[in-house]
This record gives sequence, structure tokens and C-alpha cells, in this order.
Amino acid sequence: MNILILGAGGREHALAWKLKQSPKVDKVFIAPGNGGTDEVGTNLDIGVNDFAAIKTALIANQIALLVIGPEEPLVKGLVDALEQESHLNDLMIIGPGKEGAQLEGSKDFAKQFMIRHNIPTAKAEVFHEGNIEEGYKFLETLKPPYVLKADGLAAGKGVLITEDINEAKQNLQELIIGKQFGEASATVLIEEFLNGIELSVFILTDGENYQVLPEAKDYKRIGEGDTGPNTGGMGAVSPVIFADRIFMEKVEEKVIQPTVAGLKKDKIPYKGFVFIGLMNVENEPYVIEYNVRMGDPETEVVLPRVKSDLFELLESTAKGDLANAKIEIEPFTASTIVLVSEGYPGKYEKGKRIKTGKAFKGVIPFHAGTKRQSDEVVTNGGRVMAITGLGKNLGEAVNKSYEVIKSIEWEGMTFRKDIGSDLVRLGQ
Ligand code: AMP
Ligand code: GLY
Repeated sequence: MNILILGAGGREHALAWKLKQSPKVDKVFIAPGNGGTDEVGTNLDIGVNDFAAIKTALIANQIALLVIGPEEPLVKGLVDALEQESHLNDLMIIGPGKEGAQLEGSKDFAKQFMIRHNIPTAKAEVFHEGNIEEGYKFLETLKPPYVLKADGLAAGKGVLITEDINEAKQNLQELIIGKQFGEASATVLIEEFLNGIELSVFILTDGENYQVLPEAKDYKRIGEGDTGPNTGGMGAVSPVIFADRIFMEKVEEKVIQPTVAGLKKDKIPYKGFVFIGLMNVENEPYVIEYNVRMGDPETEVVLPRVKSDLFELLESTAKGDLANAKIEIEPFTASTIVLVSEGYPGKYEKGKRIKTGKAFKGVIPFHAGTKRQSDEVVTNGGRVMAITGLGKNLGEAVNKSYEVIKSIEWEGMTFRKDIGSDLVRLGQ
């Protein structure tokens, strides 16, 4: 069977790499893909929001399964648009429709969903232009740090946290009145600060049943020791020491089961991944956010640990048969180190020639912002590659990644040297 993966990041390279291993998969297409995905399959020069071109490509390439990598086409309603096409009745799609995608597309919708279904989360109040004065007053009733969240999609930049009450008020004004993220920040949530350690949990659901994928920890800040601005993710590790059996049982009972049951109760059809961003506060899970897709770079450590055939799991998801599926997880540790362009997450240059490094057993070099230009691979984004190392423990996995990174080079290549070290301190 032929498959199409939408997206251009390390996540999509990892999905293509894993799906290509299935004996049931014939051709893999990636749109638009990157300099790594075109070694696994065929890149199609189509943007992820170009619904018309996507429909044409699905038909022309006899695609049986479509996996939608990023959130934007989901929130914009790609799935609903495809479901209306009579030519595509047999197409299997991984990703929710527009309504389900609101779990990520609107923080207000997600918060109301969690409250309605008794899912532990930070308390929050919602503000907009009409009640912004109440927002300023509400901030005064809170203890710092103050957490402000733009309601809509803001490319991972919509959460502002500050210790300073005046800065928090100014942030509220810039979000709502200054339209910092346009319509996405016309509504803002002011949320209680959760003090704990973060964990990313992933499930596949067909709307009735679910399977839990390996958990991961992501490193969001640009600088070592978790300093500097937020990025899309500078590295990730799986498994995570504190996600032990007892904690994961709480996650399943208090978060995963009510989430899947809540979707069903609310009559929201959902076939795809749910990425649950959690805070572990004194061994209790609280949901920080839902994403309606896999994480990047988390996918680059999660999928190498899935032993089962991913195509079969996705087929069961799309057909509503996940209850009968089984998922086998590899016991080893995976870590990924993201190599970024100098200047990222601010301004950076593209088009730098990359020396892609040596092959090394137990290391998978995933591409993100790269493209092939005749015989060369050049940088084409902020996050350029994600080097995944596999080992019998965290130290071994991380060391393998760094060993290969020594042989990779381009002008301005930047990366964090402390991925996983906080978990080592916790005893992992
Ligand atoms: P999000 O875009 O929702 O993932 O939020 C970005 C980051 O802000 C998260 O990864 C957390 O580190 C932090 N964050 C979000 N909400 C809270 C909260 N209520 N308390 C503490 N930190 C938070
Ligand atoms: N790494 C975080 C995300 O994919 O949203």
C-alpha cells in the first residue's frame, strides 16, 4: 500500500523511516519532506495547507493511508475536506477533524473539555477585549509566576510566563489589544502556575479505544540548563525515569481514559495521535496542553522504541479496531539531540552546506530543516537535524548521539550539550 506523510520536519522523517519498515508498505510519499525523507521515499512539492494539491496527489499516487504530521492543516479542517470527497472514500486518515483539532487549536476549548470531563489541569480564567480590566484585577489576586496563554495557534510562542506583575499586565495588553498573535491572541487564558517536571505522553486512539506509546521528555529552551527562549525542541529522551508504573497508571486513569471517553461523550470523532503535555506535580499528573499530532523532536525517540509494525497500528486506528491491536515497546533508551542554525529561534541564515557525518551503529540521523541541492545537502530551517542515539541506558544513548555529531558540520551549527543530564541527576 502507498502512504503519504504531510510535513517537513524530523517528525516526518521518523514517521517515514518507521513506516517504510512495514512489509505492507509499498511507496512512501512525503509532502513537502526534506533532504532526509527523499532517501526513504519520494518528496512531493506540495505545501501542508494546499488542500487541492493534496487531494490531487492522494488520487494520482493511489494513497491508502494519509498521516498528517503538523497541527495547522488539522486545525484548518483538512480531514473534513477530504471526507467530503467521494473519490477518497477508502482513504485511511491519521488525524482528527476540525472539531477534535480544537483540543490544540483553542486553549479555551481544551480547558473547558478538561473541566467538563474532570481531567486534572491548572485553574484558569479567560479574558478578551471586553473584560481585559477584570484580567488586570485577576492577575493581582494571583501569586507569581504568572502564566498567560494565547487561545489559538501561535507556533509554540503563545505562552508567556513572568514573575513580574507589571510585565504580566503588559503582556496581557500586548496579546489582546496589541494583537501580538492576531486573532490567536484575541482571547487569553490566565492560568495558575504548576510547579513540577514535564512529561510528554502519546496515545493513538480510534475514538473508542487507545494504545499508549512510549513517553518522552522534551528540552524546549535554547540554552543549556534550560535557559533562554523557547524553541520547538532541542532534544528529547525516552523512557523517562519518573514515568514509572505507578505514575503512568495515574496518567492512564486520571488523564488518558477520561480524555478518550470525553471525546466519545462529546460526540467528537477522533482517529489519530493525542500528545498530552503533562506536569508532574508531587507525583500527580496535570495536563498543560493537548496536541492533536505527534511531537517534534519527541517522535524521533518515541518511534525507534516502538517494536510493532506502525503501519498496522495506524491501520487499526483508522479502521476503529485499536482494541485488538497490540503494541510492543523496545526496552532500550533513545535520546535525540537537535542541531540548529546559528541564531535560532531568532533570525538565522539558510543554504549552508552540511557535511552529514559518519554512519554509526545505533544512531539514526533524522533530517528536519534540510534540502538536497544537486549533490549536496544544505540547511533549510532553524532546526536542521535530530541525531537519535539508542543505548542500553541514557548515558550510552546520549554518548552515541554526541559521537556522531562530532562528524557533522556546517557553518554556525549549534546544539545543547546537556540533553538528558537532569534525568541522570534524578538517577536515570
Ligand atoms: P505550551 O505551549 O502549552 O506547551 O506551553 C509552553 C510551556 O510553558 C510548557 O512546556 C511549560 O513549560 C510552560 N507552561 C505552560 N503552562 C504552564 C503552567 N500552568 N504552569 C507552569 N508552566 C507552564
Ligand atoms: N516538541 C513540542 C511539540 O512538538 O509541540
